Amino acid sequence: MTLKDKILVTGGTGFIGSHTVVELQNAGYEVVIVDNLSNSREEVVDSIEQITGERPSFEKVDCLDKESLKKVFEEYAGIRAIIHFAASKAVGESVQKPLMYYRNNLGSLLNLLDLMPQYGVEGIVFSSSCTVYGQPDVLPVTERAPIKKAESPYGNTKQICEAIIQDDVKSGAPISAILLRYFNPIGAHPSGLIGELPNGVPQNLVPFITQTAMGIREQLSVFGDDYDTPDGSCIRDYINVVDLAKAHVHAISRILQKKQEEPVEVFNVGTGRGLSVLELVHAFEASTGVKLNYKIAGRRAGDIVKVWADPKKANEVLGWHAEETIEDTLRSAWKWQVHLRETGIQ
Ligand code: UD1
Repeated sequence: MTLKDKILVTGGTGFIGSHTVVELQNAGYEVVIVDNLSNSREEVVDSIEQITGERPSFEKVDCLDKESLKKVFEEYAGIRAIIHFAASKAVGESVQKPLMYYRNNLGSLLNLLDLMPQYGVEGIVFSSSCTVYGQPDVLPVTERAPIKKAESPYGNTKQICEAIIQDDVKSGAPISAILLRYFNPIGAHPSGLIGELPNGVPQNLVPFITQTAMGIREQLSVFGDDYDTPDGSCIRDYINVVDLAKAHVHAISRILQKKQEEPVEVFNVGTGRGLSVLELVHAFEASTGVKLNYKIAGRRAGDIVKVWADPKKANEVLGWHAEETIEDTLRSAWKWQVHLRETGIQ
């Protein structure tokens, strides 16, 4: 029996984290999850076990707590790489509590980067966002597009974290990194056992749609139909969360097999296809057969008009492609919402 490569996943009980743990285990990796459960539930570990037949290790640790992180590296000796999801991610909240966002998102990364060389960890995959591009001048947006001034402290933490990793590696730190710039992750695992569990009223579109369809919210507001787009609503690149999770497995394998052309590589993770808010609403109705109560409302402050990825680099260099259809993706989001109702969670 060959020994499995051990991967530390911070934020591994969260939305994208939990799906990534599943795909890592499916691909034969051993996973150690670290999560402070600030925005997720420990029961997610049971669900991961139910899906994969294998229970990942779990430590309730805050990445700001360096001493506890050290203990994790000691207890699970031989961790080869990290996928770092653990972060605060609500745009609006970050405007209200900027210091909390800077402390949490930057501090966690700094602790990990400090500890990686001490424990021989070879590489890190960092959760970044297409938010770093702001409103791109050219679409689809490639990784070479300029970084625009962030609209929120949250967006700024993503930019600063990217820069911290670049500077650390440039200074000679014996690690490599892959920065994944996600477009809009949606959907859930096809089993319906894991998915996105927003805290309070959802700010993101798809959780708001599924909660409205379930009757938890009365009506969806479509924020603006007078933008410069074909139907007037904003356009995004919605990426299935399982597809996104698989991009992390490709990134980890690239790091461990020392295939990187540069010590820090950046990839867009999107489908390459833009969908408007109204198109998405209609796709939800068509693929689930559930009618949605919605109205056109005013624009939301700070919204980007249109953005979608050029995923060519990820396709060609990482060997990863988005595979799921938007219909299957929206059906999976609905299945998850139904699961939440059936289990009494929501
Ligand atoms: C938002 C963040 C982005 C972050 C991402 C994480 C902003 C400005 N951007 O992206 O930085 O990385 O979440 O997931 O907040 N919409 C409605 N009605 C709703 C909710 C959303 O019409 O009730 C529309 C929005 O106006 C937007 C689209 O749906 O056009 C997608 O919105 P959302 O899911 O919040 O994602 P982003 O704004 O793209």
